Amino acid sequence: MNNVNRLDCVIVLAAGEGTRMKSSTPKVLHSIAGRTLLGHVLTAVHELSPKEIRVVVGSGREKVEEHLASVSPKAITVFQEHRGGTGHAAQLALADLGKTGTVLILAGDTPLLSSSSLTQLIAAHNEGGVAATVLTAELPDPTGYGRIIRSDNGDLLRIVEDRDASETELQIEEINSGVYVFDLAKLQLSIGKLINSNAQGELYLTDVIELLRKNGDRVLPVITPDSVEILGVNDRVQLAECAALMRDQINDQLMREGVTMIDPTTTWIDATVKIAPDALIYPGTALSGSTTIGKGAVIGPRSTLIDCTVAEGASVLESYCTGATVGPHAKVGPFTFLRAHSVLLSGSKVGAYVEMKNSTVGEGSKVPHLSYVGDATIGEGTNIGAGTIFANYDGEKKYPTQVGNHVRLGSNTVLVAPVSVGDGAYTAASSTITEDVPAGAIGVGRSKQRNVLGWVLRKRPGSKSADAAQSSAEKGKPTS
Ligand code: UD1
Ligand code: MG
Repeated sequence: MNNVNRLDCVIVLAAGEGTRMKSSTPKVLHSIAGRTLLGHVLTAVHELSPKEIRVVVGSGREKVEEHLASVSPKAITVFQEHRGGTGHAAQLALADLGKTGTVLILAGDTPLLSSSSLTQLIAAHNEGGVAATVLTAELPDPTGYGRIIRSDNGDLLRIVEDRDASETELQIEEINSGVYVFDLAKLQLSIGKLINSNAQGELYLTDVIELLRKNGDRVLPVITPDSVEILGVNDRVQLAECAALMRDQINDQLMREGVTMIDPTTTWIDATVKIAPDALIYPGTALSGSTTIGKGAVIGPRSTLIDCTVAEGASVLESYCTGATVGPHAKVGPFTFLRAHSVLLSGSKVGAYVEMKNSTVGEGSKVPHLSYVGDATIGEGTNIGAGTIFANYDGEKKYPTQVGNHVRLGSNTVLVAPVSVGDGAYTAASSTITEDVPAGAIGVGRSKQRNVLGWVLRKRPGSKSADAAQSSAEKGKPTS
């Protein structure tokens, strides 16, 4: 943004109660596509590089302030104790603000607003040399919104709220988006003159328009080319609508950038996720948080990845992964549960019904079936037999296990940590390993098998098993 269009301040109105959400969470802290509603608004605002950001908070103040500290630490919060209307909220924010410059005012519950639309609005305001510029939209169903009353030459005369509008005014389809750019000096002169003689008994920020007109100032309405952007969230139906619209925006952009999606309507990707070209995403997949997907990786169907890194050419099939790093050409799934700090190095594989946390699987190593792997370091070229359990917990503390390179663990091995298995070592199937296995050794940790001959005939006489054993004996096979 060039200097001419630099804003002195952005005021975000976010003190409303959000009653219709019926929630213990403040409305602006509800999330879509991995960011809160307020977080989306602030992401767009940050791109404008304003000198100052003020957020008017009220309902759920502590939670909103705590959230702001992480998403917009430099924002100043202004506390509105009682809901006195958008005009009252603006008065509080303007109280100790400079007397000249340009200010943008918008609400904290319009997550789809883009920074480019805001930039265009500010540019139109500066070019017009007007006292205020209002972003408007034409909606087929304008119910609930303030209506735009224009003069014959197209200037904005006033905004009338839905509840205060006459029958004729209610027919107007051009509505107020609640996004405004003001000349600060002129706004400061008018903001104190608001009165609450309206259906809600509140001070309406929208009434400033008429006050400015009475001063002989011009106000410019600018129609948004994309009316979807101004949609606000007041209840959970609108929350879901906005989430679906944002999902489509995100998916469309990713597909244009070279990502293949088999079914974009069931693919939910957070605004914070990054995906390289030629990745292939199957239906029912949700990618969230700081997840990044490398070139040509294949994800899904039905996979959830939260804060994961998946490298080039890797695949994650029907799995749930959080905080995991999947190396180049590594394979995950189907039906794998990767938890925090699971690291799969290049070409490794973690397969069906395996749960893993805080463990590294070395290059080309495999944990193909039915295992729990916790606090383990596995070397390269190693195979972990089906059903192997890394018993890392003694009921009080967790302990690590090391498995070397080119190890072969027999099926159903239980490694009781802390323990290590040296390079090239084996374990016998079904061994419980409580002592270190040196390199090249085979660890055998099970009792020797003994067969009690004739047991079935003696203990289960007349059973089908006994009959089978009997006829086997008659055919000459040994039973006793
Ligand atoms: C407002 C506009 C309306 C516009 C609509 C667009 C007014 C009077 N009306 O109506 O013309 O079409 O937005 O969505 O401004 N807030 C506070 N403190 C208050 C009251 C509200 O901070 O005392 C905040 C709310 O948290 C919200 C924003 O201001 O983020 C707008 O308030 P809301 O009650 O949603 O206004 P609308 O009735 O939607
Ligand atoms: Mg609203």
